[in-house]
Amino acid sequence: MSKEEIIAVTAQHVQGLLSGEGSGHDWWHIYRVWNNAKHIAATEQADLFVVELTALLHDIGDHKFHNGDETIGPKMAEEWLNSLQVEEQVINHICAIIKDLSFKGAGTSSAMPTIEGRIVQDADRLDAIGAIGIARTFAYGGHKGRELYNPAVAPVLHDSFEAYKSSTAPTINHFYEKLLLLKDRLHTDSAKAIAQERHQYMEQFLDQFFAEWEGKR
Ligand code: ADP
Ligand code: NI
Repeated sequence: MSKEEIIAVTAQHVQGLLSGEGSGHDWWHIYRVWNNAKHIAATEQADLFVVELTALLHDIGDHKFHNGDETIGPKMAEEWLNSLQVEEQVINHICAIIKDLSFKGAGTSSAMPTIEGRIVQDADRLDAIGAIGIARTFAYGGHKGRELYNPAVAPVLHDSFEAYKSSTAPTINHFYEKLLLLKDRLHTDSAKAIAQERHQYMEQFLDQFFAEWEGKR
């Protein structure tokens, strides 16, 4: 199979696995991250085959939906790529990136040793901010049965990944705990450029949200 064919059948496979998923990791999240990643990679020296396959496979076994088992995603990706006879070295690289990819809370940072990993991480993070990020965050909060906001609950930054993961804080908290921090955690210049407008848009949204909450606007 050619590289193009491998990417095409992988896209189909992932679409089959994730379509209709309702908590922010549906096929369209993958579609957007894939596009973001291709856009970012256009101005970087990177192996596009690795970038595209990683973007496509990065959420197929998301730990939040498998009782916290973070080894399932890379394992599923490995089996899939093995079945397509992708080179072992390429598979290992992709699986290593998937393992490191997700945001582990405000207090921790994940080292992304290769440019392909940095591109996909930036692409994934761009989809967590801006208008799409706002929509996904409230979708996720609703999925978890959280309040939108509660003026009696002060914003918190959980200091461990465990606490961050098991937080039951109102959804607005997630902006302070993650979304507003992401623009300073991007690696590539093209992702940073895109993030500027998306970040401002979230700040405006919060401003308007709190004003409307008090009937002031
Ligand atoms: P990603 O796919 O970017 O790694 P996650 O798996 O952490 O993101 O989460 C998927 C989506 O749900 C993202 O938009 C993220 O910001 C949002 N999300 C994650 N945790 C929470 C939370 N505690 N409250 C609200 N939204 C959340
Ligand atoms: Ni993702």
